[in-house]
Amino acid sequence: MRQTVHVDLGERAYDVRIGPGLIAECGTHIAPLLARPRVAVLTDETVGALHLEALRAGLARADIAMEALALPPGESTKGWSEFTRATGWLLDQKIERRDIVIAFGGGVIGDLGGFAAAVLRRGVRFVQIPTSLLAQVDSSVGGKTGINAPQGKNLIGAFHQPSLVLADTDVLGTLSARDFLAGYGEVVKYGLLGDAGFFEWLETNGPALAAGDMEARVRAVTRSVEMKARIVERDETEEGERALLNLGHTFCHALEAATGYGARLLHGEGVAIGCALAFELSARLGLCSQEAPSRVRAHLKSMGMKTDLGDIEGDLPDASTLIALMGQDKKVVDGKLRFILARDIGDAFVATDVPTDAVEAVLRDALTR
Ligand code: GLY
Repeated sequence: MRQTVHVDLGERAYDVRIGPGLIAECGTHIAPLLARPRVAVLTDETVGALHLEALRAGLARADIAMEALALPPGESTKGWSEFTRATGWLLDQKIERRDIVIAFGGGVIGDLGGFAAAVLRRGVRFVQIPTSLLAQVDSSVGGKTGINAPQGKNLIGAFHQPSLVLADTDVLGTLSARDFLAGYGEVVKYGLLGDAGFFEWLETNGPALAAGDMEARVRAVTRSVEMKARIVERDETEEGERALLNLGHTFCHALEAATGYGARLLHGEGVAIGCALAFELSARLGLCSQEAPSRVRAHLKSMGMKTDLGDIEGDLPDASTLIALMGQDKKVVDGKLRFILARDIGDAFVATDVPTDAVEAVLRDALTR
């Protein structure tokens, strides 16, 4: 059940290895990268309590020693204060240019750990061992690293590709149903943006995947990573096509800003709702049939996922306030909102100059649904 996706970026190329049992054998995979048998691990307290000893044992099997720092779990860790703590700790550990840092956790740890590696001693190599579904299919691959600023999410960072990604699908079994489904929002995104066959496969196999079918999980992670890898190979620094990976994200960022970037709405939940809204907008603009958004929403609902704005607990601001929150998204180009829209399921494209009144109408309808 082991799969490898190679990310072909010339001298920055690396493998993403996917399957159960990878943590137990991580030392074998990491040893060839090491100049000396020692690594520094950044993790969070939740992942650390569940999996750090397994990681330590996996490294010890290849005679690799490890030191670890566990940061508090949650999005608020992804700021200057914990970043300063992490880089200070790495320096205290005497991590040198030829050493390896391991980011062992979900998206927060992967982004912060990758950014710490990017700037430490002007750049050290790092390995991603993502433990959430969202991190396995999206944030651990492609080299976007960074932290949040008071002005917005992910506004401080660097492109810094990992040297290896180990996605152990066994650890997905320890996620709460909510966290798993939030990550599944990103999986669905890949089908919607570029592979109608994959979306159809998810319509059939999504329930088994959520219930724990390991073969289905490995297949879904592998297909998602393959799609991301091919896009990143063509557009590493998001000059064009990579923006397709932001399907659903402009709506999502507005909703996350409106709900305080917290437990009211997880990022992957916002992506799922945002994808449904992007398809609604595409249909309203006459770009795709009305069946497409209906099918997207039907699948999300059948998986028990947040699908509509009404599924978000508490009050939301009105449509024009949500649009104003979109305007603060860093993906604004020349003051114009940019959306990823779709001609059909599996056929997304980047649209600039989308009329604000169409967006407002979609949001107004969604707020009353
Ligand atoms: N998560 C979107 C990207 O990596 O480009």
